[in-house]
Amino acid sequence: MTHKITLIPGDGIGTEVTAAVVRILEATGLKFEWETVLAGADAYEKYKEYIPKELTTSIERTHVALKGPITTPVGGGFASINVKLRKQFDLYANFRPVRNLPHIPTRYPDIDLVIIRENTEGLYSGLEHEVVPGVVESLKIMTEKACTRISRFAFEYARKNQRKKVHAVHKANIMKLSDGLFLRCSRNVAKEYPEITYAEHIVDNTCMQLVMNPYQYDLLVMENLYGDIISDLCAGLVGGLGLVPSANLGDECAIFEAVHGSAPDIAGKNLANPTALLRSALLMLRHIGQADAALKIRNALEKVYRDRDKLTKDVGGKAGTSEFADSVIAAM
Ligand code: NAI
Repeated sequence: MTHKITLIPGDGIGTEVTAAVVRILEATGLKFEWETVLAGADAYEKYKEYIPKELTTSIERTHVALKGPITTPVGGGFASINVKLRKQFDLYANFRPVRNLPHIPTRYPDIDLVIIRENTEGLYSGLEHEVVPGVVESLKIMTEKACTRISRFAFEYARKNQRKKVHAVHKANIMKLSDGLFLRCSRNVAKEYPEITYAEHIVDNTCMQLVMNPYQYDLLVMENLYGDIISDLCAGLVGGLGLVPSANLGDECAIFEAVHGSAPDIAGKNLANPTALLRSALLMLRHIGQADAALKIRNALEKVYRDRDKLTKDVGGKAGTSEFADSVIAAM
């Protein structure tokens, strides 16, 4: 059987980490047909579109994409292609498991958290305008439909995966209507899952609690912006952005990508750690029914981390991106 997958290499370190991960996936012996498509500034140069038609039709055909990070200009320029793709394909749940890898020194061992981030609205609606010079408005959109479905996704995941606690993270003390709606929806959904403990934490307190005592959390569900920030904080708990995977999930399609961005500071230097994208690809393999291949790669990855002599610079090693990939393949 051949798996058709849309491959979006992205830019910055995206092309380096996707190349490494594709090599590892192919070394499992599974057959892939990659539909490689551009997005972002590179696509604009070629097609005069940031999300070219080829990309849309490819994901409509394959329903599954593996994606490298895409740069978003700061303070101007085009809107985030990452956010647009999530909205375009209604990938409403951003699933981000956070776990330690063996022998990576961190402040806390044995972290095992899940972050579930609403992916289609909130402050990332991209609705901003200048009312008069010197005054801008940025709209936070929250709907009952999206708040309920992300809460339901979180509780369903908790039920199916023996997670015992769900924390809704919010700022409803200040944003009484928008985050208030999020909490109302979460409370309603929580009633249908009596076996799961439900609690609410204000987002700023959550950041402090995560740094002081991450073990009190099991699964955290939250709106878009808080999810973005808390994910990076949690990546820091387990050794950095080079390690943490994510899946953007909808009812029809899924896009698997790392939590990290295009890392312009190390791009083109063979320094990027492909582990985060590789772990995202493991989520993808399970999604397409190839759990055995995922396990095979995971065991090889853990061996490389245990052996320690082929790690990338961000986790204290000296190996380059491609050398790291070679050693995962050798360990398989
Ligand atoms: P970033 O995640 O690209 O980098 C933050 C820090 O982590 C940098 O020091 C970088 O070198 C390091 N880092 C990230 N990934 C790494 C890896 N795989 N191996 C080793 N070190 C790694 O965040 P930043 O600098 O805020 O954003 C850069 C660009 O990426 C921006 O244009 C941003 O909009 C975009 N971005 C794209 C995302 C996506 O495509 N989903 C997600 C986050 C940011």
